[in-house]
Amino acid sequence: MDKNVVWHSHNIDKQKRAALKNQKPCILWFTGLSGSGKSTIAGALEEMLYKNGNHTYLLDGDNIRHGLNNNLGFDEGGRIENIRRVGEVAKLFVDSGLIVLSAFISPFNKERAFVRELVDEGEFIEIFIDTPLAVCEARDPKKLYKKARLGEIKDFTGIDSPYELPISPAIHIMSDTISAQEASRQIFDYLAQKGYIYVT
Ligand code: ADX
Repeated sequence: MDKNVVWHSHNIDKQKRAALKNQKPCILWFTGLSGSGKSTIAGALEEMLYKNGNHTYLLDGDNIRHGLNNNLGFDEGGRIENIRRVGEVAKLFVDSGLIVLSAFISPFNKERAFVRELVDEGEFIEIFIDTPLAVCEARDPKKLYKKARLGEIKDFTGIDSPYELPISPAIHIMSDTISAQEASRQIFDYLAQKGYIYVT
């Protein structure tokens, strides 16, 4: 960063914006293999939050890679930069008072820790969507595992690119044993219990 760039503090801050929304802003960081159910569960949860009157934004890996991050690939450097940018965007949205749902494979512990460090204590909630590779591969909604096995896609997570298991996720969902509705209910209850949201 240029040393001549100085931070400017404004009067309307995160607390004021959040108070108006009657919620505690945070990042719900969904991590897991492709096809594990991250987007589906995040989408179901966002609907529940919306119905409860909460202000949210869903950052979805596939969608962000169509726009902001459309110049990034899936090699290690591309994935690191993907998560760095998404982390910074999520931080801005938290600052705006929103509950951010982010659904990215985010395979590396270091990058997930980086995002955790970007925001204040209690603002990063790691949610591990723990679905066995065999189940994700059997679902193969986008037929990408098939292509990866045929060698048509390189560096595919779980096949020829690693996924590092989260060390101590706040919420651990075994998505092959419960429905997306049940999983999102579990997260919704966690948010209510910890005071991020008030149930109407
Ligand atoms: S991340 O690893 O950088 O966090 P991200 O969540 O943005 O990944 O994108 C993952 C999505 O991109 C997958 O759900 C899948 O649809 C698609 N994709 C395309 N190529 C790959 C690949 N090599 N590895 C994983 N996902 C891929």
